[in-house]
Amino acid sequence: MIALLVLIMKTGTTVSGWSVTFENPNPCALKGSSVEFSCSYNYSNGEIVSKTAWSKGQMKSGIWTRVALSDHPLYQNRSEYLGDQQHDCSLAIHDLQVEDTGDYYFWFDTNMYGRRSKTSLHLYVTELIAKVYPKTVRAGDNVTLECGVSCQLFTTVWFKDGRPVAKPGFQAQAEDAGNYLCAVEGNMAMQSDPVALEVQYPPCNVSIEVSHPGRLAEGSSVNLTCSSAANPAAHSYIWYRRNISSSGSPLQVGVEHMLFLSSVEASDTGLYLCQAMNSLGGNNSTEVLLTVGASYFNHFIFLVGIGVKVVIVVLLALVVIWARRCCSNHSAVDKKEHDNDYENVTTA
Ligand SMILES: *[C@@H]1O[C@H](CO)[C@@H](O)[C@H](O)[C@H]1NC(C)=O
Ligand SMILES: *[C@@H]1O[C@H](CO)[C@@H](O)[C@H](O)[C@H]1NC(C)=O
Ligand SMILES: *[C@@H]1O[C@H](CO)[C@@H](O)[C@H](O)[C@H]1NC(C)=O
Ligand SMILES: *[C@@H]1O[C@H](CO)[C@@H](O)[C@H](O)[C@H]1NC(C)=O
Ligand SMILES: *[C@@H]1O[C@H](CO)[C@@H](O)[C@H](O)[C@H]1NC(C)=O
Ligand SMILES: *[C@@H]1O[C@H](CO)[C@@H](O)[C@H](O)[C@H]1NC(C)=O
Repeated sequence: MIALLVLIMKTGTTVSGWSVTFENPNPCALKGSSVEFSCSYNYSNGEIVSKTAWSKGQMKSGIWTRVALSDHPLYQNRSEYLGDQQHDCSLAIHDLQVEDTGDYYFWFDTNMYGRRSKTSLHLYVTELIAKVYPKTVRAGDNVTLECGVSCQLFTTVWFKDGRPVAKPGFQAQAEDAGNYLCAVEGNMAMQSDPVALEVQYPPCNVSIEVSHPGRLAEGSSVNLTCSSAANPAAHSYIWYRRNISSSGSPLQVGVEHMLFLSSVEASDTGLYLCQAMNSLGGNNSTEVLLTVGASYFNHFIFLVGIGVKVVIVVLLALVVIWARRCCSNHSAVDKKEHDNDYENVTTA
């Protein structure tokens, strides 16, 4: 009974020379990182420390209890006593989890009294949470990035697809779409999960691809494809043709993504343009010239061809005439000879 009373008395703070001091009683750390509790303890001269332990306060069946970290399965390989049996009671906890948040106590036994620290240290484990407001914007709208971290011990920086972001607020452009995350400055290992920003914009960079560039022969076929950058993707198209010479209004010639012209005629010649549209608006391509019929170059080739043919025909004719002449001369000689023979025969 007396021993118990003494024990109760000794657990109080009235015992002189007895103390446990935390350098920082309210540490805050990031999930996944390590934390070190700098701690020192003191006791009366002459006492010898026989045991030290750290414990965590937690509710067990409605009762606030202290569970020694050495008996706690979640801390088995993560807690490391850095102190000693003299005056250092520092502790490290590695690979911090959000559930590690809570009250931690250090206690020690001496050869004279079992003691327990009454004051506790409160650890707060926080996560980096990237927030992008809003997550979907129209080009030109403002975007704000917020790195949610509960203790303001850290300077955070932003990255978009691995590249640093200059400012956590900006007017979104098409190229700002991507995955954003925040990280502790100078420690990329401490980073949030990425958050995607979607930027919507009307079609831009509208262009026409021609399946067969250059002049088209009459009767051939050609495909014109309208491509554009847009978010959401362009869903409707209008194709226009304008006569090169006349200043008349353009003629609507198609409404599909692709304009398929089969068996083209000279009248298909003109300046083609496509308009791409999505829910946010539309935009025009530059005009593309399509020419049907023989080109000047073709005319040239044609004329050269005719020239060559004419030369060949003339040469052939000359050869034939020459051959005729030669042969007819020969036959004339033969005839003469025959005539002579005949003459000879007849005269003989
Ligand atoms: C520890 O306790 C002893 C004896 O009570 C005292 O002389 C000493 O100054 C104390 N040390 C610290 C760091 O409080
Ligand atoms: C702790 O480490 C021991 C030995 O290194 C290992 O066998 C055990 O599985 C680990 N426990 C946890 C919870 O990681
Ligand atoms: C059309 O697209 C160009 C670039 O391709 C862009 O500069 C222009 O703002 C767009 N016009 C509209 C009305 O969206
Ligand atoms: C439009 O083209 C320009 C120049 O090639 C390019 O820098 C820009 O990123 C393009 N826009 C989109 C939304 O793809
Ligand atoms: C045009 O496109 C159609 C369908 O994609 C294809 O069958 C045809 O061969 C293309 N024609 C030309 C001239 O590229
Ligand atoms: C696109 O071209 C069509 C036909 O020339 C014209 O009516 C329309 O106004 C143009 N749109 C833009 C945004 O330039």
